[in-house]
Amino acid sequence: MNVLVTGGAGFIGSHLVERLVRENHKVTVLDNLLRGNKIPNHIFSQITFIEGDVRNYHDVSRSMLGIDIVYHFAAVLGVDVVADFPVETMDVEVIGTRNIINAAHEFGITQLFYASTSGIYSHSAIVKTALNEEVLVDPRTSYAMAKRYNEIYLASHFEEKGINTIALRFFNVYGERQDNRMVIPRFIEQAETNAAITVFGNGLQTRDFTYIDDVIEACFRLQNTTGFHIVNIANEQEWTIKDLAECIIELTESKSNICYVDAPKKRYDYEVERRIGSAEKLYALTGFKPTTPLKKGLELTLTPQEYTAANGHNSI
Ligand SMILES: NC(=O)c1ccc[n+]([C@@H]2O[C@H](COP(=O)([O-])OP(=O)(O)OC[C@H]3O[C@@H](n4cnc5c(N)ncnc54)[C@H](O)[C@@H]3O)[C@@H](O)[C@H]2O)c1
Repeated sequence: MNVLVTGGAGFIGSHLVERLVRENHKVTVLDNLLRGNKIPNHIFSQITFIEGDVRNYHDVSRSMLGIDIVYHFAAVLGVDVVADFPVETMDVEVIGTRNIINAAHEFGITQLFYASTSGIYSHSAIVKTALNEEVLVDPRTSYAMAKRYNEIYLASHFEEKGINTIALRFFNVYGERQDNRMVIPRFIEQAETNAAITVFGNGLQTRDFTYIDDVIEACFRLQNTTGFHIVNIANEQEWTIKDLAECIIELTESKSNICYVDAPKKRYDYEVERRIGSAEKLYALTGFKPTTPLKKGLELTLTPQEYTAANGHNSI
């Protein structure tokens, strides 16, 4: 397959590119290197890299030549970054995705994947059970709002043009090469330097953390899915931020203490009490769901090694 990955130089994109190359796909990456390049050197030499911007239709259309499948992962993200740059965040999402959709139609793409987010559930997460795709969403930030807008836009486009499309609602992805815009690498950095681990609020807020190899496996398993679908990519395990911090302290044998501080005002809209996802729909479509326990995923993140999420997992 000829595969285009936008945002392929980023954390999730670079892991996807690595796996695609390993499985002999021909890969093109479109990325403006906003966050540097996380693609390992030996992989970089085997792909076509286009330094460009998804907001620019010329860049998008030249990267789409001869492509069969598109993974559209380019985005501006990270709570502080989005809070500081809400307009750029929206533009990259809305203009970028419109360009991808138009070019996908122009170039006869058969399958389109879009990286959405569990952030769009926001305060819906006070429901007692794990969030499934039927739950009424409640986006409250520019980032989450734009992701939801794109889901609806993609659904409408599917109705009109019929390109198989999957919007992946990622739940807190983590793993090797993630940078410290996100909570796990930030805690690891603090723990490894024996600095205080800063937790916002009382630390009892929960999240569902999904290991990167599971996420990539899910992307692969969904490749032959037809129609339009919104699919949670979740680990179905709820962890408090306090327990996460304690686990990282233990695994790194750190002398760090946990320091509880009030969240800065600009983060208020992101401060959700609870979040746990259901991966039942993913399982129904593919026979697979993420199962790497957080502690195991953290060990792998701290000591990267050969590990395939599919090993020992349920298969189709
Ligand atoms: N990491 C998570 O936990 C998580 C959770 C939910 C959703 N997502 C979504 O998954 C996707 C990948 O996230 P990630 O964690 O790899 O983030 P990342 O920041 O590591 O990667 C995003 C990539 O997009 C590129 N980019 C940004 N603006 C661009 C533009 N205008 N044109 C071209 N490239 C541009 C960046 O340079 C970067 O390489 C994003 O769409 C994100 O919103 C991630």
